[in-house]
Amino acid sequence: MIDRMSCGLMPAKPHTVLRDAEGNLLYEEMLTRGGFGGAFTYLYHRYPTTAAVEVTESKRGHAIAVADEAGRTPLKRRLYDTRKVAPGGTAFECRVPLLFNGDLTVYFACPTQSDDVYFANGDGDELWFVEEGSARLETQCGWLPVVAGAFVWIPRSMIHRWHITSGSAPLRMMCFEGHGGVMVPADFRNPVGQLKMDAPYTHRDFVRPEGPIATPTQVPDGPRELVVRKGGRFTRLLLERPPMDVVGWDGFVYPWAFAIEKYQPKTGQVHLPPTVHSTFAGPGFLVCSFVPRMTDTHPQAIPCPYPHSSVDCDEVILYLRGNFTSRRGVGPGALSLHPAGVAHGPHPGAYEASIGSTRTDEMAVMVDTYLPLAPTAQARQLEDAGYHDSWRTAAPSAAEQGRG
Ligand SMILES: [Fe+2]
Repeated sequence: MIDRMSCGLMPAKPHTVLRDAEGNLLYEEMLTRGGFGGAFTYLYHRYPTTAAVEVTESKRGHAIAVADEAGRTPLKRRLYDTRKVAPGGTAFECRVPLLFNGDLTVYFACPTQSDDVYFANGDGDELWFVEEGSARLETQCGWLPVVAGAFVWIPRSMIHRWHITSGSAPLRMMCFEGHGGVMVPADFRNPVGQLKMDAPYTHRDFVRPEGPIATPTQVPDGPRELVVRKGGRFTRLLLERPPMDVVGWDGFVYPWAFAIEKYQPKTGQVHLPPTVHSTFAGPGFLVCSFVPRMTDTHPQAIPCPYPHSSVDCDEVILYLRGNFTSRRGVGPGALSLHPAGVAHGPHPGAYEASIGSTRTDEMAVMVDTYLPLAPTAQARQLEDAGYHDSWRTAAPSAAEQGRG
């Protein structure tokens, strides 16, 4: 939720009669959050929203995250190569769960086909980060253009479809599924909900959906099949009519996009903690953006992050481009997991080498979680088994080599 928007047709007062030019009654739907006490949006439909011809268990869906108990122990730093995620399929179905806890599931997806059904995720808001490629998102609030480098927010239970842009680079996307929601951190707002002047972005930085898709006389054709996920189960509803019949809407709940390049970084006299890169948050996790910036201004500053034992947080970073100051041997598409309980910090040599540098061109997306993240069996297929040992500063002993 960014701010209130309204577009298309609607009555002057909610819950009152709205008719088209021919006198046909239009139908209001309230999309509410937090029961009836949270943010909401009024949607005005050409047709009643509740008509479904068939309701069955869906044979289609995506994999639900399950812990890979065999590969989970011991506790150690891990690195996954998302370039090994096989391209193919639709965004709705091809997402691969990699890490999860009770608050968050992290997926990676490389869809090559547009969705041929509509999807509504009742298990959480979806915050996508598009690493490569472009697409258009068809939603009940309108079309949303999606480009590489953008965060894309799809609210819980919003009916939508991904459309692949022909001729664009193949899509590579990471998804943060926030089970309790994903939102702008509360301390970025003033008491009336406006983004504060010291927030790292402004209202104008957000790309909004391009109005309702339908008019009272023109409801676009499309699939009548809607797949709804709730509690990890998939239900197929065959609707009487295609669901993109919204002619107007008004509220705070609508999808949006935000380009990471618009994130305004902060620089201090000495190294500032990762929380200064806060971008979006949900219960139990914080998403941060590392973007090119000037580094610390103190003449004796060590710009590289100090080694740390952040004893309450698991840390996940997707590396996008540039030379990440603290790590070596990681390139675009690498995804690291540094679990709480194991101290972490710069690779040997990086700390010393950063002294005297004045800027960094690194770009990365990070999520910190309070609950431990469990890797999935799918993640193990992408893992670099030697990553934890890449911090060694001494050669393995003869005894260690003998252990193979
Ligand atoms: Fe860290």
